[in-house]
Amino acid sequence: MRNLSEATLTDAVLAKLAGATDARFKQIMMSLIKHLHAFVREVELTDEEWLTGIEFLTATGQKCDQKRQEYILLSDTLGVSMLVEAINHRKPSGATQSTVLGPFYVPGAPEKPLGADIAEGVEGDPTYFSGCVRATDGKPIAGATLDLWSTDGQGCYDVQRGADAPMRARGKIRTDANGCYSFWTIKPVSYPVPTDGPVGRMLLKMGRHPYRPAHTHMIVSAPGYETLTTHVFVEGDRYLDSDAVFGVKNSLVAPFVRHEPGVGPNGRQMERPYYTVVYDFGLNPV
Ligand code: BEZ
Ligand code: FE
Repeated sequence: MRNLSEATLTDAVLAKLAGATDARFKQIMMSLIKHLHAFVREVELTDEEWLTGIEFLTATGQKCDQKRQEYILLSDTLGVSMLVEAINHRKPSGATQSTVLGPFYVPGAPEKPLGADIAEGVEGDPTYFSGCVRATDGKPIAGATLDLWSTDGQGCYDVQRGADAPMRARGKIRTDANGCYSFWTIKPVSYPVPTDGPVGRMLLKMGRHPYRPAHTHMIVSAPGYETLTTHVFVEGDRYLDSDAVFGVKNSLVAPFVRHEPGVGPNGRQMERPYYTVVYDFGLNPV
């Protein structure tokens, strides 16, 4: 294996996988090498561009720590996360579509009673969510868990406020015997994905904005059903058609209806305008 050329190099590298015993690993690596080489040939990558790419990937790794995953952000902003999601979660009719998990999920959110405010004391417009969780055949699912999180009214997640920041706008709610749920939170607002790293610089160079349309995150789970990771997006948000991470699906967009002060849902006296959202979830049996 000498005197390898533009014409023979790819096959020489592929041949090196002859001894790989894990068939799936071999398939993935062969395909990766083929596509990577084809990309380099297509753009005729220069020495300087190759080094820029290496420096970019190095900086991406160096930006990662316990709370920051710049590689996932890279995957998200290049549409890879949503492609993997689409391939792995092909939903039958009646099942709610899924979307990206994102980097701001924190396990261990407190469980709250039905109708509770999961964002007590968090600035933002009070919003009451209600609806039911059903199987794809329409059967209500009692005891399903909704694990919820969102930004505050300024578009900031609690974990972005520092390592020791307390949990805010997070909570778990369980459906009642009829499969129904309700909770108060705040109306989410659109916000930029983190831009202080190499991915932010990449977006700028691409001429793209970093914003995500306003959404509330949830992981809906119940024994015997495929766990659903999704969002409910705010209808009318200006970024619905240009989400920085390509995560919007029409079926996940819901009206947030504005109400004047007065007696709100579950008898809560509202001193200021508030919103209500009704959204039903469909889970796919495993
Ligand atoms: C989020 O929705 O929290 C999110 C998703 C992908 C990248 C950054 C943030
Ligand atoms: Fe988010």
